[in-house]
Amino acid sequence: MLRVGFFQFAPKFGEVATNLSKVVSALRGAKADIIVLPELPFTGYFFQDRSELASLAQDPAKSPTVSSLIALCRDHDFLLVTGFAEKSADKIFNSALVIGGDGILHTYRKLHLFNTEKEYFDPGDTPLDTIESRGVKLGIMVCFDWAFPEVARVLALQGADLLCHPSNLVLTYCQQTMLTRCLENSVFAVTANRFGSDISPRGTLTFTGQSQLAGPEGELVYRAKPTEEELFIAEIDLSKARDKSMTQRNDLLEDRRPEYYTALIENYTTMT
Ligand code: ACM
Repeated sequence: MLRVGFFQFAPKFGEVATNLSKVVSALRGAKADIIVLPELPFTGYFFQDRSELASLAQDPAKSPTVSSLIALCRDHDFLLVTGFAEKSADKIFNSALVIGGDGILHTYRKLHLFNTEKEYFDPGDTPLDTIESRGVKLGIMVCFDWAFPEVARVLALQGADLLCHPSNLVLTYCQQTMLTRCLENSVFAVTANRFGSDISPRGTLTFTGQSQLAGPEGELVYRAKPTEEELFIAEIDLSKARDKSMTQRNDLLEDRRPEYYTALIENYTTMT
């Protein structure tokens, strides 16, 4: 059995130190194997432009925020999966880091940028991959990746048992859709969302909370409220995610017919 969960809260835009101390105090004493935090939990989400983002993004290797999170993981013997505004040379990615007591175990750079993110983030430039630790294979995706079923499918084909999904959701579709992502791939998923609003000169964005744990039969194990801070942790049985059968004669991964899916990897152009 593995203890997994999320911390749902309302980050304050631009207040990295305040947001970090909120996370550190909320997680102090937590007994878990893996805790997922929202997307961009330290910087906030709704940037005015690239220069504002650049002033808040950090190189994880030199980041005091990451150093504090490594110490938190070491003291509590858990892994964290957290959103992070990642500076890398002249690029800035909307990333998720897997952090343990010995350092950063994995970096995922969001592949599918949402709306205004396309103005100031660089799109992810590294392949999807899983990370194995504590006897579980983690697949990492960030927020709007939910709308691209290929992401969860590729991670499942790479052996992911548990999708860790830092999010800052503003639309209402994701939580329900993730139940299907879990069912069609027979995996668990933790979607860690934020709540509250980012108020910028460009407008106000309000986030939907309702972070959740979903299971391999498409079941909702638990969903948080839309506007309450919460640390949630539950035990999951990984053998359920490793059984890919839907009937005695059907296996979700082996029954695929990729030779008929070639349109998926051809360049798509809109027909007009
Ligand atoms: C999103 O991808 N943050 C909606």
